[in-house]
Amino acid sequence: MELQNRTAVITGGASGIGLATAYKFAELGANLVLGDIEQAALDAAVSRLRDNGAKVIGVQGDVSKEEDVQALKDAALDEFGGAHLIFNNAGVAAGPTIGTAKSVWDWVMKVNVDGVINGINVFVPHFLEQNEGHVVNTGSLAGLGGVPGMGAYCASKFAVVGISESLFHELGMRNTNVGVSALCPGFVKTRIFESGRNMPNELKSYNESPDAKMLNDLGSAAVNAGIDADIVANAVADAVLNKKFWILTHERAALRTTEQRLEWMRGSGAATINLEGATQP
Ligand SMILES: NC(=O)c1ccc[n+]([C@@H]2O[C@H](COP(=O)([O-])OP(=O)(O)OC[C@H]3O[C@@H](n4cnc5c(N)ncnc54)[C@H](O)[C@@H]3O)[C@@H](O)[C@H]2O)c1
Repeated sequence: MELQNRTAVITGGASGIGLATAYKFAELGANLVLGDIEQAALDAAVSRLRDNGAKVIGVQGDVSKEEDVQALKDAALDEFGGAHLIFNNAGVAAGPTIGTAKSVWDWVMKVNVDGVINGINVFVPHFLEQNEGHVVNTGSLAGLGGVPGMGAYCASKFAVVGISESLFHELGMRNTNVGVSALCPGFVKTRIFESGRNMPNELKSYNESPDAKMLNDLGSAAVNAGIDADIVANAVADAVLNKKFWILTHERAALRTTEQRLEWMRGSGAATINLEGATQP
């Protein structure tokens, strides 16, 4: 799919992978609608992108609310007269499998899964009607294999990968010019392990728990050893332009994780966890 003079909507566009992808899409000639829950970060991102020559607007909102995602589409149509790509990218990390309050699981699932569902429900009918469009859903290596300390995150990312595969097959059955990609990165240098900044106030005490602190410390060290977000942005653009489903920025780790699960299912030993191996391509 072309990006020149098309309009791309990016959720979680004020930071990390979303923001890096905004720069890349702007370079390829796309109009941009950035959505994010953080108003100040969003304003700063829009202003820097405009200084760089991008045609971009920002719309503050929460991806877990369908009306906020609808507002992104309305803004795209009002400002640019169309919408051609939805990058369902906003996400948060929290929650070991043992001892995490249900309210924290719910928050992770709402942002990471409902955010993707809302993006699909709002944008895919429009893409089908115009017979042009592309959906990119941000999963993770944590959506290809279970990781200790991250039960809620893994649950949400397995869901995103499953939804993306289902959508791929449904689009294939309709023989349409609408595509979908599943982005499954390993560690990327972003603020994902500072996700607590966007937690609802009533959940924020979770961040003081020893489990949360340990996860955030371990996770921060791993993302700092990870790849730069602009490498991910280039891979996302390549997948859109060339209609690729899997976006595996850490291909060796993705294939090893999947092969180990297969061997595990066939009866050999359980998959081993290699966080270091998930930092580099
Ligand atoms: N960084 C990594 O190592 C890594 C690895 C695999 C997958 N991912 C995924 O990449 C995606 C982007 O995260 P990132 O790494 O760039 O982190 P980030 O924290 O830098 O960016 C995430 C953005 O999402 C926004 N956001 C959070 N909750 C929101 C909500 N309810 N509604 C709208 N916006 C919201 C944040 O304000 C932030 O701007 C996430 O889905 C994450 O799970 C990240």
